[in-house]
Amino acid sequence: MGNKFDLTNCTDQNNTQRIISDDTKLDIGYVPEKIPHREHIIEELLNNTFAPVINENQGQHAILVGPPGTGKTVTIKHILQKVRENNDTSHIKTIYINCADRSSGQAVYEKLCDDLGLKFVRGQGLSKNITSIMEYINSESTPDLLVILDEIHELHSTRSDRDYLSRPVLYSLSRPHQCVSEVAEDGFKGNITFIGISNEANIIEEIAPDVKSSLSHATYNFKKYTEEEIVDILSQRQQEAYSEEILSKPALRKIAREIAQNFHGDIRKGIDILKNVPNGIESPSVVVDSQKKQIDVVESTIEKIQRDKIQQVFYSKDKHFYLVMSSLYQQLKKGKPHLKYVTQSYSKACEYAMVEKQGEDYKARKSFVYRQLEYLVKIGLLEKTKDYSEPKNPNCYEEIFNLEVFKEAVEDNLERERLLEKIRDQNLVLNLEEQEAANEAEEILDQHMNG
Ligand SMILES: Nc1ncnc2c1ncn2[C@@H]1O[C@H](COP(=O)(O)OP(=O)(O)OP(=O)(O)O)[C@@H](O)[C@H]1O
Ligand SMILES: [Mg+2]
Repeated sequence: MGNKFDLTNCTDQNNTQRIISDDTKLDIGYVPEKIPHREHIIEELLNNTFAPVINENQGQHAILVGPPGTGKTVTIKHILQKVRENNDTSHIKTIYINCADRSSGQAVYEKLCDDLGLKFVRGQGLSKNITSIMEYINSESTPDLLVILDEIHELHSTRSDRDYLSRPVLYSLSRPHQCVSEVAEDGFKGNITFIGISNEANIIEEIAPDVKSSLSHATYNFKKYTEEEIVDILSQRQQEAYSEEILSKPALRKIAREIAQNFHGDIRKGIDILKNVPNGIESPSVVVDSQKKQIDVVESTIEKIQRDKIQQVFYSKDKHFYLVMSSLYQQLKKGKPHLKYVTQSYSKACEYAMVEKQGEDYKARKSFVYRQLEYLVKIGLLEKTKDYSEPKNPNCYEEIFNLEVFKEAVEDNLERERLLEKIRDQNLVLNLEEQEAANEAEEILDQHMNG
């Protein structure tokens, strides 16, 4: 249950400000009333895929493709909601499957069986089960089927099928009439319309060629939202969630810029920030009336979210993890966040901390450090990039957090491990070394200049 809160108690200058919010409307799973910037896709999907199904016909199969947080899932959920509100859908059975949870043909068909009230018979093989289901669908009284496979890139079933999305599933959904033993003269009686969703750009190439030729689907490309589009969407979401416009355009633009720059435009992060904004507000009227205050509260909310995330990541790790993080911080600060330098820095840190290094040799140590950094990449705190100023060693990282916030968390944990003082010495020495190197470089340059 989300938090319903009322900010009326705050001391207001004119006592008329009233901001009631229902932050469940900013939950990731909530389906909003409007989906700005997806109107064209919604219209086409309605006409080509949903309208035929509403009219008891076969709809055009559809595949929705686009990066994370571009509104693919919510677009389908929104259309379903509207279709149900405005039409008689008693003849339609909608089955939604997230293939991240059900990644094999069998798991998908087990869910289909469950939802249709049929029994999946284990031990008799997938194809026999498919035949039974298709025969059921081919009978007079069964509903029209709308099957939505979200995260369809996860659907790789058998070893021989590795390169392609589960063939049995896609083949049977696109050619159900070929899965039954007999088709009456007036043809296959059921209708199956299928919608696949993926954030993998090359998903169409993962469909086996013979299946692709019979699928005759339409592909809908969901492009990353631009900054201006993000502002519109957040503005719309804010209107639904709060009775007052807490943030005006400049503050929303600040959020949009943050997620465009640091989160590949994934709108989820923006909604998360919007949801957390009221927690940082003391007096609604002051914030509503002052753009500067709004931007301040956005900044502090972004920082707080980062802090919480870093704390979560750092929670109950061992000293080696914190030493790698300290080394990462140093190299980020120096502008040299290459794996090689983080590893060297980690070696030095271990020496200063008088802790035995992980990894028997440099190679093993580098791979240990690599794994720690990969973990940060996975949870979205670091991004891998290439820096060709060092062609032999281009692999490096870019942070998706405020360096000061990161530093504080590293220091807190090193302090708890009683390592901070020792590492501080290392920083000093490293800085001295750097100074020496700079002096040397200057000397060489001087010599050159003076012939
Ligand atoms: N145009 C929009 N208007 C309002 N809310 C949106 C819009 N686009 C996305 N959202 C919201 O952003 C969040 C992410 O959207 P959604 O889950 O549809 O992304 P997705 O494209 O399916 O991402 P993924 O590939 O990671 O599954 C959801 O909470 C959704 O409600
Ligand atoms: Mg999705």
